[in-house]
Amino acid sequence: MGRYLVTGGAGYVGSHTVLALRDRGEDVVVLDDLSKGHREAVPAGVRLVDGRCEDRRALAEAFGGGRFDAVLHFAALSLVGDSMRDPLRYMAENLSTLSAVASAAVQHDCRRLVMSSTAALFGFPERIPIDEEQRLGPVSPYGESKLMCERALDWAERIHGLRFASLRYFNAAGADPEGRAGEDHDPETHLVPLAIDAALGLRPPLMVFGTDYPTDDGTGVRDYVHVTDLADAHLRVLPLLEKQSVRYNLGNGTGYSVRDVIETVERVGGRRVPHALGPRREGDPAVLVASSAKLRAETGWSPRFAKLEDIVRTAWDWRAAHPQGYAGARQAA
Ligand code: UFG
Repeated sequence: MGRYLVTGGAGYVGSHTVLALRDRGEDVVVLDDLSKGHREAVPAGVRLVDGRCEDRRALAEAFGGGRFDAVLHFAALSLVGDSMRDPLRYMAENLSTLSAVASAAVQHDCRRLVMSSTAALFGFPERIPIDEEQRLGPVSPYGESKLMCERALDWAERIHGLRFASLRYFNAAGADPEGRAGEDHDPETHLVPLAIDAALGLRPPLMVFGTDYPTDDGTGVRDYVHVTDLADAHLRVLPLLEKQSVRYNLGNGTGYSVRDVIETVERVGGRRVPHALGPRREGDPAVLVASSAKLRAETGWSPRFAKLEDIVRTAWDWRAAHPQGYAGARQAA
């Protein structure tokens, strides 16, 4: 059994990764300031240190109980649109959080770190699918902040011997297939939960951002990858860090348009998705689809929930059971 620190472990991808670690019988500590995450998303048996990654006391408490085999770092600001309004906060906070956690890991003799990165590193990509060889060229402060974090980790490896995996997620979606966790952001900006909520009457009609993209149906195309498959990828890269640092693009390798997502939600949920057609959202590329060939070849990773229908079904089931998200679980407790 190993011991793992998960920063941001009360958040969306972090909490699903905590479940995957626990399902394997690992010992897990979560460090999360609950600014975005939810206490209810941390399963029983997992110690939650409620504090910020830059807070020395919280870090000391989290690292206090014994040596970690690895740190999985999810805690970050992650909204592209938000970063366009507050660029310096994104750059400063994401880099300082990563630096604080990585330094503490080195100090406490833990030399393996997995970091959440993003397709936003590639900006407007030159080729589809996007493999690891493509030019890095973020077009948002969010993407830039994650690129800075990857570069900081390069130096930490050279100087401190800290091995790292950077996982560049494409579009994380879906929920734990056993219904133990789901997606609950405030504000919610992501397509899948917004479409589901529109269908369930929990939010206003969905606005489709752009119908004049050079795609088959004119709407934006993305690579939706199930959050449980993302979690699994984190576990699979850990053994590689014995030998080297790695960077992987992480998606299913299939693109679905906004209209595909609407149709799938309607089919799975059996309800219409009320929606209106609007202009493009600034900074949105037409198509983002990953090549995860390298990850598959080097770790044996293969998505269990590759079909959009499976992704949407798990998300639908969780939301239908938790119309108020984790706040409902809080009231029920
Ligand atoms: N979309 C709509 N209406 C909405 C929300 C989204 O039409 O209300 C469209 C977008 O234009 C895009 C697709 O649905 O074509 C997916 O949008 P999301 O906001 O769900 O996700 P993004 O692709 O914009 O962002 C994701 C991650 C980011 C990451 C980015 C990489 O959430 O963290 O991919 O570009 F940085």
